[in-house]
Amino acid sequence: MKIISSIEELRDQLRGQLRTAFVPTMGNLHEGHLSLMRLARTHGDPVVASIFVNRLQFGPNEDFDKYPRTFQDDVEKLEKEGVYVLFAPTEKDMYPEPQEYRVQPPDDLGNILEGEFRPGFFTGVTTVVMKLFSCVQPRVAVFGKKDYQQLMIVRNMARQFALPTEIIAAETFRAEDGLALSSRNRYLSDDERSEAPALYQALDHVASAIRSGHLDVPALEQQAMSTLAQRGWQPDYISIRKRINLQAPSADDLAQGTPLVVVAAAKLGNTRLIDNLEV
Ligand code: PAF
Repeated sequence: MKIISSIEELRDQLRGQLRTAFVPTMGNLHEGHLSLMRLARTHGDPVVASIFVNRLQFGPNEDFDKYPRTFQDDVEKLEKEGVYVLFAPTEKDMYPEPQEYRVQPPDDLGNILEGEFRPGFFTGVTTVVMKLFSCVQPRVAVFGKKDYQQLMIVRNMARQFALPTEIIAAETFRAEDGLALSSRNRYLSDDERSEAPALYQALDHVASAIRSGHLDVPALEQQAMSTLAQRGWQPDYISIRKRINLQAPSADDLAQGTPLVVVAAAKLGNTRLIDNLEV
């Protein structure tokens, strides 16, 4: 595997490649990321991964400085997956001058749910993803459904800018007890790790209720939030949304069986976890 940090060198290395499959990451790779690499391989060749902890998508009080960085370990994992190039730019490589041009998602998608609780987050994500795409020029790029809103925003961005990159969605990779794998899980204490699957269970409970015809959306959301709060969580939201645009479903949508997704974010101790379940 070639490890490249400069944009110029990356361009030289990938020149002429027409079927590149790309997986952007912030490192601290776990099985969930590796499943994205494997999916990428089925959609293109060569597979290119990136590791870049993108300051632009972190708020001033978020965990940029303490975000887990495990580069050597990550390299070994990617080598085993047969990744051809790892693009691992430094901040200076990626942002040699202040990044003044940014990609701004629309308010009705970028400022709801995660965007409401993490102002500027999605502008940071779309800006770096656009720049990474410009560097790698992939034919396909793989994003996990775990970050459901991110996936949708990146997909809409690719469509609206007519990017030549197809966005592939990968299913969420879960531990046996249901907890969605995430780099932030490593912040959890042993007790918190035992409690953490309760987030998935809350989503599963809401999803099952909807499937069996309970369509009182506010009551289901409220009940799920209270259950988590009683267990010591601080939920930001548990919300039933339409898969197509992440807006709240109307009574007609519910009656017509419009595809839904239940999305959630909640803090357990100091760790903020997100998850979702399609209904
Ligand atoms: O999902 C992530 O790890 C990041 O948001 C991404 C897509 C690599 C952009 O920094």
